[in-house]
Amino acid sequence: MRPSRLTLATLVLAAACGAAADTPTATGTSASSGTTPAPSTPTAAVPVVGVINAHQAATVGIPFDYDATLGGAAFTNPRGGALRYSATFAPNANGLTLANGHVTGTPLTTQVVTVTLTATDTAGATSSQSFGIAAFAAGLPLPAFTTAFSYTDASLGLPAHFTVLPLAPPVPPPGAPAPLPPPPTIAVTDNTGGNAVTDAGATLGRVLFHDVRLSANDRVACASCHIQGFGFGDTAQFSHGFQGGLTGRHSMGLSNARYYQRGHFFWDERANALEDQVLQPIQNVLEMGVSLADFKVKLAATAYYPGLFTAAFGSSAITDTRIALALAQFVRSMSSYQSKYDQAIASGNPASVLTNDEEAGRLLFSGPAGCARCHVTDAQVMDAPHNDGLDAVTVDTGAGQGRFKSPSLRNVALRTRFMHDGRFTTLAQVVGHYNTGLQPNVDLDPRLRQGPLGQPQRLGLSPVQVQQVVSFLNTLTDPTHTNAPKFKSPFVP
Ligand code: HEC
Ligand code: HEC
Repeated sequence: MRPSRLTLATLVLAAACGAAADTPTATGTSASSGTTPAPSTPTAAVPVVGVINAHQAATVGIPFDYDATLGGAAFTNPRGGALRYSATFAPNANGLTLANGHVTGTPLTTQVVTVTLTATDTAGATSSQSFGIAAFAAGLPLPAFTTAFSYTDASLGLPAHFTVLPLAPPVPPPGAPAPLPPPPTIAVTDNTGGNAVTDAGATLGRVLFHDVRLSANDRVACASCHIQGFGFGDTAQFSHGFQGGLTGRHSMGLSNARYYQRGHFFWDERANALEDQVLQPIQNVLEMGVSLADFKVKLAATAYYPGLFTAAFGSSAITDTRIALALAQFVRSMSSYQSKYDQAIASGNPASVLTNDEEAGRLLFSGPAGCARCHVTDAQVMDAPHNDGLDAVTVDTGAGQGRFKSPSLRNVALRTRFMHDGRFTTLAQVVGHYNTGLQPNVDLDPRLRQGPLGQPQRLGLSPVQVQQVVSFLNTLTDPTHTNAPKFKSPFVP
């Protein structure tokens, strides 16, 4: 079952059908339209659309002047005589006007304006073409590339336990509560589908991910809410969108997102594929607030994008599909595989690498504490959404019945808020929740129940054991990943 491929195919198809929408448009109209000329009379001459204006960039507060007639090349005039030019601006002029074929004025605010330029000849026949003017905030940074990075798996040298391996069989430490059934043995696989990571694709994705131009007012980038140093999560309980509004849920860590085998994204799995997911924050009225149509005008009008698209996809065309593919490639390149835990697994003898507490915590996690029955594989991803008993009465239904997916637990110790509503502030609280805090929700996952009546489990972990599980979670921190230059912002102020 790979819904991601289906969705990808749909996206590609949609883009292929809608390709014309990405480019400035021309509509020729004729004064005689609707009337059929008599066969003996020559066809009436009308202005003919010549060179189409490319989308233009302007800056808020800075005078703008642009010759939309392209020195007379925008239309040709078979009838002869002077052409008159007029223009309409949608959704509004944003401080611009048309004078002598020039769009001039000082843009008032960050906004994309569609200019429809009409040429009228001496007989009143008209013809039109449209293009966009994106007004950007003043002083935006530009990307600087000094190093070519490797994002593809082949060049990463992923450890063996990242290509095939079920979790090590659990060995309960002495004195631990009776072992629960063993974790499912699922090999580490991923949700890449047909969109393999390429260096040029991920590079484009990286620029997009860090570019504040992705938001309506040029203030918020993906990276504003997904911060590398925190495993690409946010420190705040709820994140601020482009106008300062707060998101309804806590931002999710993105490390190892690609290894979530069900391939659905968001806490409630509402995005069917990563390629679907990455376009949603851009259009979200609270997060980035820009339509995809306006967004493509902004990218086309930004000098460095056409080259990045050409490098990634072979031509400079900017389409929804390509934006989705590139962003998804960058997110999938965020494999975390160089933590202390990875060294321990690769050594074949974890106890020789981990401290006593970390090793005891590892054994609890994959054994009696039952954590690895849901947080599966060496990528520590969720197997499927679950209700984990946060509330007795469901507040947020999530994927239904209060079920949520968890992001990978990689780098979880760097985060400062936990769960979909960011309610916990320490990992000890999280482990304490599983130990003694589960609420008797009717939809509580069967794996978190115990006894003949299916009561919420009480793990019976001692304070020392709770701390051991926390120590283990700290071994999932991967400083190489959270400091890697290739994930950092390429923009220089
Ligand atoms: C204003 C803050 C904000 C911005 C900007 C933002 N995100 Fe998010 N992101 C969130 C929140 C909050 C969630 C969880 C939302 C939910 O589940 O309802 C999330 C979830 C995600 C997920 C799902 C992870 C998973 O494992 O299911 C991905 C992937 C993601 N964001 C990528 C991006 C990308 C790419 C961008 C830029 C195009 C972006 N985000 C912009 C806040 C933000
Ligand atoms: C029945 C499945 C299940 C089991 C067993 C389970 N978890 Fe979870 N875990 C979840 C779900 C579901 C979430 C997300 C819940 C939410 O946000 O509402 C989660 C979230 C978390 C988070 C927060 C992740 C984040 O980014 O906010 C941590 C940490 C965590 N679990 C650790 C553990 C530990 C440690 C154990 C064992 C003591 C454990 N889990 C057992 C299902 C489970």
